[in-house]
Parts: sequence; C-alpha cells; structure tokens
Amino acid sequence: MNFHLLTLFPDIIKGYADSSIAAKASESGVISFDIVNIRDYARDKHKNCDDYPFGGGAGMVMKPEPLAGALDAVQAEHVRVIYPTPAGRLFTQHYAEELSRERDIVFICGRYEGIDQRIIDTYVDDEISIGDYVISSGEIAALVIADAVYRLIEGVINAESLAEESFTPGLLEYPQYTRPRDFRGLEVPKVLLSGHHERIREWRLKKSVEKTMQNRPELLETKQVSEEVLHILNDLPHGGINNGYYKGN
Ligand code: ADE
Repeated sequence: MNFHLLTLFPDIIKGYADSSIAAKASESGVISFDIVNIRDYARDKHKNCDDYPFGGGAGMVMKPEPLAGALDAVQAEHVRVIYPTPAGRLFTQHYAEELSRERDIVFICGRYEGIDQRIIDTYVDDEISIGDYVISSGEIAALVIADAVYRLIEGVINAESLAEESFTPGLLEYPQYTRPRDFRGLEVPKVLLSGHHERIREWRLKKSVEKTMQNRPELLETKQVSEEVLHILNDLPHGGINNGYYKGN
C-alpha cells in the first residue's frame, strides 16, 4: 500500500515514517510513504498556500491551486483521496479495515481553517474525522488513520495480536503484565503464572468484560454477546443485565 501525504510540514511525517513499525514496514516493502510538499506547487514568488476566507471570519484557508497541483502530481493509477477534518465521517476500526484493501491512499493534511471547498468537491473521496475534538495538525490526523490502516495489512503485525486486540471481538483488551513478578509490592495475578491455558483464557475474558463495562458499556449494548460473556455480566457485583447495565440480546 502506498500512502501519499500532501503536507506543508513534511518533517512531521518524516519523523513518523522513519520510526518503529512504520519504518520496518516500509523497509520490507509492504507500505511506502510518498511525502509531497504542497508548497512546491505554489505558483507565486512568496510560495503562498493560504489566504483569507471569502465572506470574512477568523483564520486562513488553504488555497486551491497548490493543492490541485500536488494532487495532480501524485503518481498512481487509482487513488482514494482522504481529507482528515473534524467535519468528516467518524473513523472506526471497521473503516480502517475497509481502507486497508486500497492500493494508493492520498491524504490532504489541512491546516488553519481548512481547505477550499472546491478541492473537496472535485478531488476528495472521504472526509474523515478521528474524533469529536479539534486538533491543529492535519498531519497527525492523517497519521492516526494511516497507522490504523497499514497495521492491518498482512505481514506488518503478527496475526495473533491482531485477533486478540481491542475492537476486533467487540470487547476492550484485558490487562497485560510482564517481568518482574513483583513490582513495588504489586504482584502479577497468579493465574497468569499457572501455565493453565483455559483458566488464563477465562480470566482474560472476565477482565475484558469488566473493563468494557467500566469504560465503554455502550459497546456491549450494541453487540450480540456469547453465553459465556452473559454469565460474566450476570456475576458482576453491581452490574449484569438485571441491574440495567446491559441491555443487549
Ligand atoms: N483536523 C483537526 N481536527 C481533526 C479531527 N478531529 N479529525 C480529523 N482531522 C482533524
């Protein structure tokens, strides 16, 4: 998969692309980062990429010509053009899975008050919001989306980790522990040291259900849950279906 990131701040993207799993995935050829500096496509002598909004109002808007130039220069046959914006559709794991089947994804990293609407109308396939809050950097929003997407591609992360983690089965992930067994008097739960796979599985499922009830109970309400999860819910001290926490099934 090729990510084409159109930005006024290439260093933000470079720092990410050159580190950790992203760097490994590009070294092995699974993904590539094509970083395009929008300013290279500004035509005036000051290389201006933003201007005042027509109709007045605070802030600046990214001009259409440099963006169109950068978009036209992207070398790919079929691209999905994404504009991260708080005014977009909410990004989810399901959305990430859908995007992971694309070959070339273009991100327009916005700044200021956003980009000229005519670019959205003529080039953009998806306007995506990473959450109900506003950040200053479209680069960070684009990288959040790219990260959630490329890690789903085969060979980037081991398949077992993907299967177990939060959101794949509709429950939040159970707590993890590593060495030492005793950290400042806090001991690792004994069951994890027992080597008893079935008991460990049951303990982890119970912790997942408890955590989901505590932090995101609405996830359980919208899911059809297994008999085993139903039992765990019923056994919770103040929870369970009968006390009105769980309204599913
Ligand atoms: N740019 C600024 N805030 C954003 C958000 N919440 N989602 C996507 N892009 C953004």
